[in-house]
Parts: sequence; structure tokens; C-alpha cells
Amino acid sequence: MAYSAKIGPSILSSDLSCLGSECVRMMECGADYLHLDVMDGHFVPNLTFGHPMVECLRKSVGQDPFFDMHMMVSRPEQWVKPMAAAGANQYTFHLEATTNPGNLIKEIRESGMKVGLAIKPGTTVEELAPWANQIDMALVMTVEPGFGGQKFMEDMMPKVSWLRSQFPSLDIEVDGGVGPDTIHKCAEAGANMIVSGSAVIGSDDPRSVIALLRTAVSEAIQKRSLDR
Ligand code: DX5
Ligand code: ZN
Repeated sequence: MAYSAKIGPSILSSDLSCLGSECVRMMECGADYLHLDVMDGHFVPNLTFGHPMVECLRKSVGQDPFFDMHMMVSRPEQWVKPMAAAGANQYTFHLEATTNPGNLIKEIRESGMKVGLAIKPGTTVEELAPWANQIDMALVMTVEPGFGGQKFMEDMMPKVSWLRSQFPSLDIEVDGGVGPDTIHKCAEAGANMIVSGSAVIGSDDPRSVIALLRTAVSEAIQKRSLDR
């Protein structure tokens, strides 16, 4: 099986005045990658940071950590080159934010980044499907994008199961309300890239939470491969 369990803390709910050290702390606690939430106050009703911050973060944490940029922005075309130059590894844009996903996918690749494609809860997985063979990762949002700490939407799981059945080796990410209480639903449905914000950052023992999330996903992957 091509895909493996990967846990990516969302640093949105960390102390943003210490972002560099928070990223380092997450990597030391066993994170496989870092999920960085970019919001523009237009595509979503909240505002975070942009490529200048990513550039500083890259300098501060070194070349190793993989930066998955979750671009909750209108006109995602605008930030491809600046994000690549700042040191982003993957550019995850929202299908709802563009009229020309094919061209954007091409531009992201030409900039040397991996391609992630995200859908909000109201967007069907059939709308994502035509692009699935051209992307590295599909992100199924399990909350309305905009804020950390929201309740997990279990009714998004059929989207994950369907994608897993249609695209057996695709990286499938879930984001929003994912933690020890909800990970098993995600793992059983077939998600393998797990974003977790408040459940990891807010824990006294993030290392154990990350390990627990990874174990749940690894076990589900193993079970799926035995069932085949
Ligand atoms: C929400 C963001 C998420 C968020 C996840 O719009 O995309 O990445 O930070 O945080 P939790 O895990 O607390 O829902
Ligand atoms: Zn996110």
C-alpha cells in the first residue's frame, strides 16, 4: 500500500508569539509534518498569516519539517510563487476558491511544491474526483474552515470512504475536530494524513496524543490491506 499514517499538528491553536519554538516542539514530539493555516479574512471569516511568516518560520526550524500550507484564501493563484519561495512544501488550495483548478495544479507543480486539494463540508466529493489523479493529497474538511476547536463532523466520513475506495493510493487528509475521540472514525474511513490542532497543542502530553493518532491510523491501514 502506497500511503502511510502521517500526523500533522495544526499550529493555529499554539502560542503564536512563539511559533518557531512551537513548531520545533511538535517535531520533537513526533509530528510527521506541520499543517499551517493561512486565512485571508475573505474566503473565511478569520485572519492568520502569509508567506513572510512562513519564510521566517523556515529559517527558524531548518529545512527538514514538511510544511503543508492550508490556503483558506480567495484567489489562491496569487500566493503560489511567494509560498514556494518562502519554503512551503505542499500547497493545499480550496476547490471552491478557483475557477481553474487544472491550471493552478500545474502552476503549483511548476513551482516545485506538492499539490493538495481541499473541499469544504458543503462541497461534494464528486466535484473533487476529476482532479484526484493529478494531485498528491485530498483534504476533506471535517469542520467549516476558519477556526480551531470546532466539533468534528462525522457526516463527512462517507466522503473519505468513497475517495479511499476510488483512489486506493491517494493521500487523504482530514482537518477539524480530530483528536483521540474522533480518530477511529477517520482511520476506519480511510484517512491517512491527520491534522490535529487543539487536541495536540492543548494536551499536557502531545507526544502521547500524536502516537495514539498514528497507531489508530496504522492499524486501520494494516487491517484494510489484510481485508483486500
Ligand atoms: C480550521 C483549520 C484547522 C484547525 C484545526 O479552519 O483548517 O486546521 O486549526 O484545529 P482543531 O483540530 O482544533 O479543529
Ligand atoms: Zn487547516
